[in-house]
Amino acid sequence: MSPKPPGKPSVAIIGGGVCGLGIGWRLAQAGCRVSVFERGQAGHGASWAAAGMLAANAETEPGEEALLGLTLASQKLWPGFAAELNAASGIDVEYRETGTLVAATNRDEAEQLRFTYEFQRDLGLAVEWLSGAEARRREPYLRPGITGAVWAPDDHQVENRKLAEALKAAFVKAGGALYENCPVTGIETQAGRAVGVRVGGVRVGGVHTGDDLHKAEIVVLAAGSWSRDIPGLPDIALPPVRPVKGQMLSLRMDPKAPLASAVLWAPKIYLVPRADGRLIVGATVEEKGYDPHMTAGGVLALLDAAWRAIPAIEELPIEEMWVGFRPTSRDDAPILGESGLDGLLVATGHHRNGILLAPITADAIARQILTGTPLPEATPFTLARFAAKSATAPEIAAE
Ligand code: FAD
Ligand code: GLY
Repeated sequence: MSPKPPGKPSVAIIGGGVCGLGIGWRLAQAGCRVSVFERGQAGHGASWAAAGMLAANAETEPGEEALLGLTLASQKLWPGFAAELNAASGIDVEYRETGTLVAATNRDEAEQLRFTYEFQRDLGLAVEWLSGAEARRREPYLRPGITGAVWAPDDHQVENRKLAEALKAAFVKAGGALYENCPVTGIETQAGRAVGVRVGGVRVGGVHTGDDLHKAEIVVLAAGSWSRDIPGLPDIALPPVRPVKGQMLSLRMDPKAPLASAVLWAPKIYLVPRADGRLIVGATVEEKGYDPHMTAGGVLALLDAAWRAIPAIEELPIEEMWVGFRPTSRDDAPILGESGLDGLLVATGHHRNGILLAPITADAIARQILTGTPLPEATPFTLARFAAKSATAPEIAAE
């Protein structure tokens, strides 16, 4: 049974990350009465912690072929999405067409990179092989011993923190209601259907009104890595999502003399140069639950790998360090669309690609709600694929 009531339903969204805000924005634009409930500050979960890479080509590895339809489609949406969002919010999200360069620093790495390159090229992805000298012509601060590289001319970047701020502003300007510091404490069901959310900490005119029932015809679960933890979710609608910890830091470059112009990958590291002179250095990938700590080993690994790629980073001041939690599903692919509970849709599990997938996630869930039909690219990614081994959608191998 479709969870879509006719017309433009009222919608309650749990979670104010790029997924929840993007869906909310699209629905508010379409004239729905839509509320986003965020337990903290909107946009300050994984969406804040990310590096903002939009890398559908360079990051594709064997086993991830099934995701390509979705990642490439979302990548194509990015230029228009960014322009529309800049105009709607008045905030420049710094979508920059810098391209991405993946470098190998010795012969073994070059051999491995060549294998990945051939796999990507055979899939028809936009990747080009460069010699070490060609790579250094593009990025002169790379270590002189670079043995080869892959150039991905279509893989760009966005300033994800500005993206979250812009989505928040655009959502509110379009008529959406944003409730921050408002944790959802339960999903309300009646006769086997979600009919709203219970929220804590609602403040009206500065007065705390206590836990409250907010009724809605459709509820969207977009609570990132916390999406399993919302009370009231029946087992059948529980998304198999867990936190995957990432430690990251930023260095301060002279914006007039940056050490990199493209997004750079080298073994165990990526480096993302921002327009304001920050160099984002990321990231660890750790199964440590919600451990919030930066560790000596994590920082050492990041800085050592960054220095092996660009030795000149050793002079740069460290500006900030942070930890984030990727919302990772059992097969590393997102979970989009109908859940096992009528009236409840799911948009979570975006793992390492949630910024890249923000535009298509917003479109897919809004379309499902407004028309009752799924976006074709999103159909392999419903929760149903985990329900039984007989599920038709192919599972994508975990790392
Ligand atoms: P979140 O941004 O985590 O938002 C979920 C929100 O739900 C949070 O704000 C949380 O407070 C709220 N919430 C939780 N429980 C409740 C509740 N009970 N009530 C109300 N609100 C609740 N992706 C890319 O595409 N490119 C990258 O370069 C990239 N780099 C990354 C680097 C790191 C270190 C990390 C950690 C992630 C990276 N990602 C990247 C992945 C990307 O950040 C995520 O996939 C994406 O941000 C997920 O968005 P979200 O809205 O689902 O989750
Ligand atoms: N996509 C980069 C990361 O998750 O670290």
